[in-house]
Parts: sequence; C-alpha cells; structure tokens
Amino acid sequence: MMTLVDPGDKVILFSPFYEAYSTDALLCGAEPVYVSLREPDYTFDADELEAAFKQHPKAIFLCNPSNPCGKVFSREELMTIAKLVEKYDAFVVIDEVYEHIIYEPTQYTYFSTLPGMYERTLCCGSLSKTYSITGWRLGYIFASPALTDAIKKLHVYLTISAPSPLQEAAVTGLRFGRDYYDGLRAMYTRKRDFVMKRLDDIGIGHNVPQGAFYMLVDIGGYGYDDDEAFCRDLAEKVGVALVPASTFFIEPVHHLARLQFAVRDETLEKAMERLENISLLKK
Ligand SMILES: Cc1ncc(COP(=O)(O)O)c(C=O)c1O
Repeated sequence: MMTLVDPGDKVILFSPFYEAYSTDALLCGAEPVYVSLREPDYTFDADELEAAFKQHPKAIFLCNPSNPCGKVFSREELMTIAKLVEKYDAFVVIDEVYEHIIYEPTQYTYFSTLPGMYERTLCCGSLSKTYSITGWRLGYIFASPALTDAIKKLHVYLTISAPSPLQEAAVTGLRFGRDYYDGLRAMYTRKRDFVMKRLDDIGIGHNVPQGAFYMLVDIGGYGYDDDEAFCRDLAEKVGVALVPASTFFIEPVHHLARLQFAVRDETLEKAMERLENISLLKK
C-alpha cells in the first residue's frame, strides 16, 4: 500500500473487509472510500462502485476469496471492476491468500490475467493458508517489474526479508504436486459441508462460502443488538468462539458473526454439538 499510496490519496475498500486494509490505509494517510458488498451473496452495485471511482482513488483493494465472508468474485464482477480501473486510471491490490481454497462449482479468475490488468495489479500471495503454516508469515507479491522495483525498495527498509530458514523449509511445500492442492480443496469442502449441514439442522442462518474457510452466520434472532455481547455470551455460556462481524463492516452491521472452520474435525464436531445449545442465549 505504501508503494502506491501517498498521504491524502483515496483508496476503495469493499465492506466487509479484512481488517488490516482499513488500518493500513489510515497508516499511509490515505482516505478509504467504502463500497458495500450486499447479503446474501455479497455482490456489489456497479453504479455505487463507479460513484466511488469518480472520486479518483489511487487504488482499489480486493480480497478474493474473501475473509470474512468466503465470497469469490465472478469473472463478470472482475470485468466490471477492470473496466472502471482502466477508465479512472487506478491500480488494484488484490489479496489472494486463499486462492487454493475454492469450492466447486465456483471458478476462480486471477484478476491480473484480465485484459490490460497485469500492469495495474499487485497480487499478494501467502504460504500461510495453502500449506497451513499461518505462524510463519511467509508471503510474496506478484506484479509487473515497474511495481516490484518500487516495492523492493520499501520492503528492504521495512522488513529486510522473511527469515531464510523458513523460506528454505517452505520450498518443500512449493514442490508439492497437483494432488496436494486437490486434497486441500477436498478437506475444506468436507469441513464446510459438515458445518453448513449442522447449522441448517440447528436452524442457524449462514451464507454459502465459495472460497476460504469462513462464513458469516446470522445471530439476529436472539434478542441482542450488540454482536460483541452476543459473541462474549456465546463463548462463556455455550463454549464456542465466533468473531463479532461488526469489526469487518463499515456499515452498522450487528446481526452477523464470523465462523472459521479451519480446525480439526473433532473440534468442529464438538463445536457443533455445543451450538445445539445456542437457544440458551435467547432473550
Ligand atoms: C485475507 C488475509 N490476508 C492476509 C492474511 C495474512 O497472511 P500472512 O499469514 O501471510 O501474514 C490473512 C491471514 O489471516 C488473511 O486472512
């Protein structure tokens, strides 16, 4: 973000967003312009997006697949964004750390492969989710030489480099074949489907994630107007921890909580058993 954005520049963020984006924008002195992704499938309104582009932002930030809602932008949606990026001469920063966790029949489109977008796109990748090594914090950027030259200049003064023993160890993962990625997808598909079925049986509303390992569940029917209070009570009285989703939204959204299912099957089983008691919280 520091490579592209100067203090006073505007940047477009979709809401809900991964929390780091808004904070990073503020740390750069940038002004976020928010565009809503709307329930249930978290699509955007093209006119609302164009209105944001009319404010001449330096860049738009995308999380694809999305943390926190598991949305995967369709090719048509990405084409709409690409046309506006071209028309208003902006850049795209796309966070693709969940690129290998996509649920069928969803098709994944790499934004930088769309016509004219390679020079305008800065793709952020990570080994965290693909190889289940979130604590290692190994990531990479894929972009044109013009962009990476500037990024490298900043990077060397910010972090110098990722620890080299971790980079060497990660090569093992980078050499995995197709089977590994198919297995990863199959594992998360199983977990997602298990959670959705159990939530449906209990009667808890949720969206259907197309990628990543999160979904937003509806906690609106329990008489709380504060999602933080609900999640605190859920942890204390039912024994399941969800993240209050208001932290991901700029709009005053208080009826959703984020559930993440990247945990062992036994843990998921136990959590779903406990959620059967969710009605204890009803006011
Ligand atoms: C959308 C998104 N981007 C980036 C990250 C951070 O990735 P890394 O582990 O490479 O720091 C996360 C991890 O939680 C994430 O969910």
